Amino acid sequence: MKPPFVTEPLNPDHDRSAFHSGSDSLDRYFKERASQDVRRRVAGCFVAVDQDKTIAGFYTLAAASVALDALPREMAKALPRYPVVPVMLVGRLAVATTHQGKGLGSALIADAIIRTDRFGIGAFAMMVDAKDEHAAAFYQASGFTALPGQGRRLCLPIATALRLLQD
Ligand SMILES: CC(C)(COP(=O)(O)OP(=O)(O)OC[C@H]1O[C@@H](n2cnc3c(N)ncnc32)[C@H](O)[C@@H]1OP(=O)(O)O)[C@@H](O)C(=O)NCCC(=O)NCCS
Repeated sequence: MKPPFVTEPLNPDHDRSAFHSGSDSLDRYFKERASQDVRRRVAGCFVAVDQDKTIAGFYTLAAASVALDALPREMAKALPRYPVVPVMLVGRLAVATTHQGKGLGSALIADAIIRTDRFGIGAFAMMVDAKDEHAAAFYQASGFTALPGQGRRLCLPIATALRLLQD
């Protein structure tokens, strides 16, 4: 995460009330449900804050799995023939309107990838369900590939992502 932002796990001291991303459903989720999901351990939630602790963006992470035969052949061929393989789901991600278009969304994706890699647990890829075509274009610009026949579900192998981050 580039200065002036740092990312940290969502905690009760964060003021979520003024966060506005332009997506009502994501804003509502963040304000009303994110901390419950964290408490119930069905998602982790991480926020990007500036020096004043104002929230500029957030994302959620959760363990998930994907059927091997749902993956593009090129991706699947590097994997063992297990019927399903583990991934990390970026369930929700949003940037405040005042900070959109400045690279923060990509920086949040990078943060999620680095965090997952650091856990050292089995998750071969990041997976997302883009909420619309704009979001899908954003994820594609960040290196994600659409899964054939899976709606707007996209995937980015972590090994590929780490290579992209080094470039
Ligand atoms: C989608 C969203 C997260 C993007 O964040 P951002 O900080 O504005 O995006 P960035 O500045 O990091 O852009 C990264 C890349 O994605 C591209 N991109 C961003 N938004 C895009 C859009 N709506 N359509 C097409 N491409 C887009 C940028 O051009 C950039 O490409 P580049 O690296 O080739 O220059 C942000 O606009 C947002 O929070 N929107 C409302 C909520 C939402 O849609 N969340 C996605 C949930 S599935």
